[in-house]
Amino acid sequence: MAKPHVFISRRIPQPALDLIASTCTYSMWDHLSPPAPREVFLSEAARADGVLVMPSERIDAEFLDAAPRCRIVANMAVGYDNIDVAALTQRGVIATNTPDVLTETTADIAWALLMAAARRVVEGHKAVQAGRWEPWHPFYMLGQDVFGATIGIVGAGRIGTAVARRARAFHMRVLYHNRRRSPQLEVALDATYRELDDLLRESDFVVMTAPLTAETRGLFGAREFALMKDTAVFVNVSRGGVVNEKALYEALKAGRPWAAALDVFEVEPTPPDNPLLQLPNLVATPHIGSATLRTRTAMAMLAARNLVSVLHGEPPLTPINPEALRHTTWTAPLSSKED
Ligand code: GLV
Repeated sequence: MAKPHVFISRRIPQPALDLIASTCTYSMWDHLSPPAPREVFLSEAARADGVLVMPSERIDAEFLDAAPRCRIVANMAVGYDNIDVAALTQRGVIATNTPDVLTETTADIAWALLMAAARRVVEGHKAVQAGRWEPWHPFYMLGQDVFGATIGIVGAGRIGTAVARRARAFHMRVLYHNRRRSPQLEVALDATYRELDDLLRESDFVVMTAPLTAETRGLFGAREFALMKDTAVFVNVSRGGVVNEKALYEALKAGRPWAAALDVFEVEPTPPDNPLLQLPNLVATPHIGSATLRTRTAMAMLAARNLVSVLHGEPPLTPINPEALRHTTWTAPLSSKED
């Protein structure tokens, strides 16, 4: 009986590859960068029963047309704005993501960015490097206090809650804005719900952790920045698409918010001539929220388990669209399919 065939869109940690290889045949774009050209990806997908992909792969109607055998798209990321979930569901294709395993690591980067922007760590480093270190004086490189300040978390899901936990250790007042109030968060972390505008007005730190959706695309524009304090720090570890970068540039130049720190950009990699990068009050990292070996291995393992489970007729561990199973015409196990 032929084994199911899988395409893996980038080199992944070995334990995950071993897991896939134990029950599937596979081909892999055996590089880290750049990603496979679209036509290579689509032609590989054409003979795959399942794919393991990165956030940079667009999974849409064109992909589905090119990959008629594909039963599962295992995304190696928690965010899945790269996937047209409705289109997959309609065709009975399962999509999975990698929640939980990256929560603390991503909250750490949010915290690192928050601290770096508040205390001008990158600007200070550059000044030291360039020989622009001024002798100690009372007003040199003043930052913003973190301890005891007010933090506003927009989209307090898993990662936002982990950020809130860190904030409590810094004796901060925690505000949050979600589509729905979260009694657990309010009880466990003494967090207070605010409408978005009120959160923006009251927070010393605004941290965006909500996913990119139709609702959150462009959520932070000129109006939202104008509501923030002129001492506020804005941190985005979600997706670049939630921010209007032009508006952020103008806002930072005008000094409201006081600083921003971004792990994600509208276009990635962001071009080096992005004007935002010229601003001293902007800290940038290259989408490394989950980038530790332990977390990336856990993400790859979870994606691989999802893939292998579905291809062998078992339920996925972390489905995005479990309802796709209702639309599916295939019967498990797929290993009886001809290859
Ligand atoms: C990375 O950005 C992720 O969504 O996991």
